[in-house]
Amino acid sequence: MAEANWKETGSAYDRTEATFDDEIVQVERGTPTGELLRRYWHPIAVADEVGDLPQSVRVLGEDLVLFKTPNDDFGLVYPRCIHRGTKLIYGRVEERGIRCCYHGWLYDCEGHCIERPCEPAEHQTPPAHYRQPWYPVEVKYGLVFAYMGPPDRQPLLPSYDILENVEDGFEIVPDGTSIGSGGPTVMPCNWFQTHENVMDPFHVMVLHSSFSTQQFGEMMAIRPEITWETTEHGVISHQYRTFPDGRVLDRVTEVIQPTLRIVADPRLERFGPGDNISWTLPIDDTHTKIFTAMKWPENEDRPWIGGMPMYGGKTWFELDEEGHQRFPGDYEAQVGQGDITLHSEEHLASSDKGVALFRRQFKEAVQAVARGEDPPGIIRDAPALVAVRTGNFLPDA
Ligand code: FES
Ligand SMILES: [Fe+2]
Repeated sequence: MAEANWKETGSAYDRTEATFDDEIVQVERGTPTGELLRRYWHPIAVADEVGDLPQSVRVLGEDLVLFKTPNDDFGLVYPRCIHRGTKLIYGRVEERGIRCCYHGWLYDCEGHCIERPCEPAEHQTPPAHYRQPWYPVEVKYGLVFAYMGPPDRQPLLPSYDILENVEDGFEIVPDGTSIGSGGPTVMPCNWFQTHENVMDPFHVMVLHSSFSTQQFGEMMAIRPEITWETTEHGVISHQYRTFPDGRVLDRVTEVIQPTLRIVADPRLERFGPGDNISWTLPIDDTHTKIFTAMKWPENEDRPWIGGMPMYGGKTWFELDEEGHQRFPGDYEAQVGQGDITLHSEEHLASSDKGVALFRRQFKEAVQAVARGEDPPGIIRDAPALVAVRTGNFLPDA
């Protein structure tokens, strides 16, 4: 009844039941999207922020324990000890691995149980199959990356050209505070709606006009001319703006499947290739975090620490509810779409072309994995070096 009336009345009473697209939002093991995400490496922590205690991490809907030995080796394990199930978060980190607090079973960084001190001497080292479930980890750009997929499908951890060959006086700075979220570190919403925003450059002239123009100038508020390219592993947008002196800026933004977001410097007159890469991390279906690695001058202030961007002169954390209404940013817009946005209620328009292209490519990748194939961007042969296209360019200069 309601469905029949809806098109005629437009009344909220007659609205139809809303749903999300389960081929793009779910992250749990065994779901189509969760299996796609598990074919790639994901950053899960900033290496220097892991201290002498084990750390709880939640990634792709799984609770895990991350630890760093005194030799700077990292381990990532299932949180319940395989002996009798207590939490390894209370374990002690030692040179050889993590020791459970209860009966002292010791696990190395690959989960092998290598000591059981309560057992008789001849049984203190158990058979090789006594193993705490584990995932491989590697450190790159100051970030700890984990691979949580099928072991026989593990790809190489890629490098990116814009973060290699760091010039003298610069360093790679890792960050785990979700710089691109516009607000708190953990966004209480599904990862995909925050991620596809990167292929939505039109929102800048509207949403960002309430704050970005104050920091980055009126050029941000211009409606750019936009073209799109689909690459073998992602989508690129070219945003063309003309400076008052006639120079044409080609601002290139790129997403690489499945979670990389590479945005050019918002200071539009800083020309050249991009200097940072971010990864959207699905914590679970309704929580998201963003990790970033950026090339930055060694002795220059890091303005993103403690308050970027600014909203009417305040940081996000200093705004009261009225302030969030007066200066909504990416956080309000994307968390405002709900825990998981309802795709069935959407009305995509031509300005959503980038979002549509990215969704289509993502779904093709999900289907490829379901067919038993590799998704785009999987690299198994060294050097696993990926060329990035992002930057602020003057094509006619
Ligand atoms: S529960 Fe971990 S060693 Fe016994
Ligand atoms: Fe934005």
